[in-house]
Amino acid sequence: MRAYTPQNITEAVIEQMATTPDPRMKEIMAAAVRHLHDFAREVNLTPAEWIKGIEFMTKVGQMCSPARQEFILLSDTLGLSALVNIMHDKTKMEEATSASLLGPFFRENTPTFQPGAQIAKAPGDKEVVLYGRVTNAQGAPLANAMVTVWQTAADGRYDIQNGIEETDCRGIFRTDQNGNYLIRTVRPLGYFIPLDGPVGQMVMSQKRHGMRPAHIHFLIAAPGYRELVTALYLAGDEHLEDDVVFGASGDLVAEVKDNDPACPIKGLPSIHFDFALARESEADRRAGRVGADPAAVTAGNGKDSEPYGQPPPEMAAAAKEKKPGFLGGLFRGR
Ligand SMILES: [Fe+2]
Repeated sequence: MRAYTPQNITEAVIEQMATTPDPRMKEIMAAAVRHLHDFAREVNLTPAEWIKGIEFMTKVGQMCSPARQEFILLSDTLGLSALVNIMHDKTKMEEATSASLLGPFFRENTPTFQPGAQIAKAPGDKEVVLYGRVTNAQGAPLANAMVTVWQTAADGRYDIQNGIEETDCRGIFRTDQNGNYLIRTVRPLGYFIPLDGPVGQMVMSQKRHGMRPAHIHFLIAAPGYRELVTALYLAGDEHLEDDVVFGASGDLVAEVKDNDPACPIKGLPSIHFDFALARESEADRRAGRVGADPAAVTAGNGKDSEPYGQPPPEMAAAAKEKKPGFLGGLFRGR
């Protein structure tokens, strides 16, 4: 009988899994085992560290509910979502608008609006207009394209963080005959990712600032075209270069202009951005999205507690004061 060693255990596992009928599943699992074992060997993982990892993953799972997906947040903060997204974006058939993260706050339950409608229930004096065109890669307008938008309210929180029944600051619009979309909303704020769970604990223990730059999410779809999951990042935000989930990217930075003569709604600040969609390939139809409505991933967890808490007061205070040391990551490279 063979004796397992730190080296041959990996091949033994892969050999035993070789009966996996689905070839892609077989490939993914073999690579996962190889990298997982390499990781344990590289860091000389101790039993205590191994159980700590198990405890952490358990807490991440327990934190998930129909209103919250802590695993997506973990993937986001480790840069895995961004990596999968960037790799997927490279496979598009033609040059088009870059993709960005779907994030943990997308939800299927989104109201439909007429062009020019205001999606914020309490816009106050923070109104802003979003306008532009949706075209194909050659610049021809796409009529009746579906433009789904979601963002924080003026207080920096997503509706779902206040309760699963709430819908605010999200909506579905259609482009007109010339591919134009027109949306009224509020200026989004940069925000802390949820810090009250295990992922927040991880981020804080690493002395990262835990913030995303202000942004507006878009999901744009038209028949025959690759679905575009993207976001616009507001120019001037201090966290464009060090987004805690690595979503912000140069070509998706948009400026809020005060008196843009081309804006169809006068007297309000506005953001102009044109989106181009690539044609859809056979592979695109199977690729899916990097992210999902938490309710679709975590149905019926049965938790009736508040799905999101506040960031710890010391994190909020440190962000305000920009305390060196505590928010080490904030000052990295400056
Ligand atoms: Fe977001």
